[in-house]
Amino acid sequence: MKAIVVTDRAEGTRGMKLVECPEPQPAINDVVVEVHASGFVPTEMAWPSTWTDRRNRDRTPSIPGHELAGVVAALGYGTTGLSVGQRVFGLADWHRDGTLAEYVAVEARNLAPLPGDVAFTVGASLPISGLTAWQGLFEHGRLRAGQRVIAHGAAGAVGSMVTQLARSAGAHVIGTGRAADRQKALDFGAQEFVDLDSATLEGVSSVDLVFDVIGGDIGKRSARLIRPGGTLVSVVGPPAARPVDGLAIDFVVESDRAQLSEIVQRVRDGRLRTNIGLIAPLDDTVAAFNSTERRAGKTVIRIRP
Ligand SMILES: NC(=O)c1ccc[n+]([C@@H]2O[C@H](COP(=O)([O-])OP(=O)(O)OC[C@H]3O[C@@H](n4cnc5c(N)ncnc54)[C@H](OP(=O)(O)O)[C@@H]3O)[C@@H](O)[C@H]2O)c1
Repeated sequence: MKAIVVTDRAEGTRGMKLVECPEPQPAINDVVVEVHASGFVPTEMAWPSTWTDRRNRDRTPSIPGHELAGVVAALGYGTTGLSVGQRVFGLADWHRDGTLAEYVAVEARNLAPLPGDVAFTVGASLPISGLTAWQGLFEHGRLRAGQRVIAHGAAGAVGSMVTQLARSAGAHVIGTGRAADRQKALDFGAQEFVDLDSATLEGVSSVDLVFDVIGGDIGKRSARLIRPGGTLVSVVGPPAARPVDGLAIDFVVESDRAQLSEIVQRVRDGRLRTNIGLIAPLDDTVAAFNSTERRAGKTVIRIRP
């Protein structure tokens, strides 16, 4: 099969190569999925799991990409709940070969059915950003209607989902980001916008929840804006500061079939919009992830026409 592989950590996305390699075999409880579209997070090149297995052994050449939408091609021993020929989408294991390939082996529990009226490219754009936003707001942040939320990077992949889901839960959303992204963040539902390059974050009156996708100084300054007892949720590493009497939670997204199904249902009925910046074919993957152009929204790779 055709796949993108990486072998050299220091090279980052520049080291991506399109090669021929063997098709994956399904392990117990796996399905092999014929991948139609794949999502990739640029920070994957910095994740240890891209380079080593769970026992810390080198696993290169490894196939990056952890979001997928496709069709079940084969079932492993003992696999239940999915059928050959079924459309699915979801999140592939961090420590195994990923989805920038014509086929991938994934544990069945990490996948959900993809309704026939949702394009594969849309399905592949949802798992990481949708689940991250959902889990950060509702599981870790325990968001309630009427609360005030800062959604950092509100025009980005995760931030646009945070903005929409928080709004539909009845929160007041203050989006942040680059000046050029103001209108995009407002279009996703932010009621206010702070341009982090020029406006002062400290001008925002106190909030119940900050959803941080930026970290560093922005994360530290954001903690001071949270009312006593509120929550800072980070997806970019352990927060440097904790809100007074409150919680600072760092987490890594997990697959969840029920949440994937809820997210895709919201896309179908128009309550949630995905945020795709570019769709490129597999043959153009290396160029797509090494472009110097600023790209707003997610890059999705179409593996099959
Ligand atoms: N822990 C987890 O489970 C998890 C899950 C998903 C994502 N993540 C992490 O979350 C981060 C965001 O991911 P994403 O896919 O949403 O990325 P993304 O689509 O690039 O969105 C990030 C947004 O924030 C903006 N931004 C970043 N730094 C900024 C700054 N200093 N000032 C103003 N705006 C800034 C970006 O603008 P520019 O493009 O102009 O920089 C972009 O609009 C990544 O580090 C990713 O690895 C973690």
